[in-house]
Amino acid sequence: MVELPYPARLMTKLTIAALAGDGIGPEVMREAIKVLRAVEQKFPVKFEVNEAPVGWAGIDASGKALPDATLALCKKADAILFGSVGLPDRDPTIPKEERPERAALLRLRKEFGLFANLRPVKLPRELSHACPLSRERQGQGIDILVVRELTGGMYFGQPKKTESVTEGGKSFQRAIDTMVYTTPEIERIAHVAFKAARLRRKKVTSIDKANVLENGVLWREVVTTVAKQYSDVALEHMFVDNGAMQLVLKPTQFDVMLCENMFGDILSDEAAALAGSLGMLPSASLGATTDDRTFGFYEPAGGTAPDIAGKNLANPIAQILSAGLMLRYSFGLNDAANAVELAVAKVISSGYRTGDILSPSDQNAKRVGTTGMGEAIAACV
Ligand code: IPM
Ligand code: MG
Repeated sequence: MVELPYPARLMTKLTIAALAGDGIGPEVMREAIKVLRAVEQKFPVKFEVNEAPVGWAGIDASGKALPDATLALCKKADAILFGSVGLPDRDPTIPKEERPERAALLRLRKEFGLFANLRPVKLPRELSHACPLSRERQGQGIDILVVRELTGGMYFGQPKKTESVTEGGKSFQRAIDTMVYTTPEIERIAHVAFKAARLRRKKVTSIDKANVLENGVLWREVVTTVAKQYSDVALEHMFVDNGAMQLVLKPTQFDVMLCENMFGDILSDEAAALAGSLGMLPSASLGATTDDRTFGFYEPAGGTAPDIAGKNLANPIAQILSAGLMLRYSFGLNDAANAVELAVAKVISSGYRTGDILSPSDQNAKRVGTTGMGEAIAACV
């Protein structure tokens, strides 16, 4: 039990909207909730977990990927714990604007102004076999925080459409996406990256395509200006193509990678593969901080993995670590967050492995399913 006194607001009940979604979402969410219940046993905190459908589960329940009742529940909550949405088999059967990614996930990001996406990528020593790089390139370990801008850039810029055009007597389709960033949008995400770097190894690598894109030129200028307020943090700029290459050549050079939306989407998957498995990568999507509280949305970065859904094969660690990030960033429960991260580390070092992180040559490995992994972690909290 943690020593009291504990800050008063932490004694109150915290409300969590738990949106498990599709594919492996429900089964990994179940394990994350088990871990939160274990946290309640150890720390002076109570969670009210309200579950609601989203994605195809939302469409099946009430016709919309983000049902009104689910959105209302999110608005009343202190934080959102999200699973994953979208089913490649079913997605093409409805108009693209109604599909789970756009109608639920992107809508929630925009609705709650979740502009800062943090994706911590860490390769534990015991999982070095799961990293596709040679041991030599893994150095003393890979530990990168991808800070991705989440509500701007090409994902949301207007115009965004597909239109029919006729030119020279020929008719065809033309698809248009627009990349837009404003100075304030770049400034606020840059501050997030520099502040995060201060708590780490004090280095920011800002990713852009300033040799081609107007957006890249502005990005580089604004980040350079913001950096002046953080003279204790080293800043370097890197073109995105080089960044993708450097990640596989020498991932240990990176501490914080600051990326616009699309580049961050791509590089964070690449970085996650270096950390052994997408099933290990949690994320926090944060909005503005008011009254010392930051509303946040916490989700694994790995997607619905329909091929393994419902088979007790999915790795629940990304979902569990996402719940840990929620404890840290939205609830200020740093001790509880540390306890969850430590429990994951312990379970990994005692050899528990879901299929995605299992090495046939590992003598120490204990193969477990989704529930086995969740229970082992909950027991270690
Ligand atoms: C992610 C995902 C989403 C994104 C998809 C599902 C819309 O890939 O969170 O990285 O592109 O942002
Ligand atoms: Mg992605």
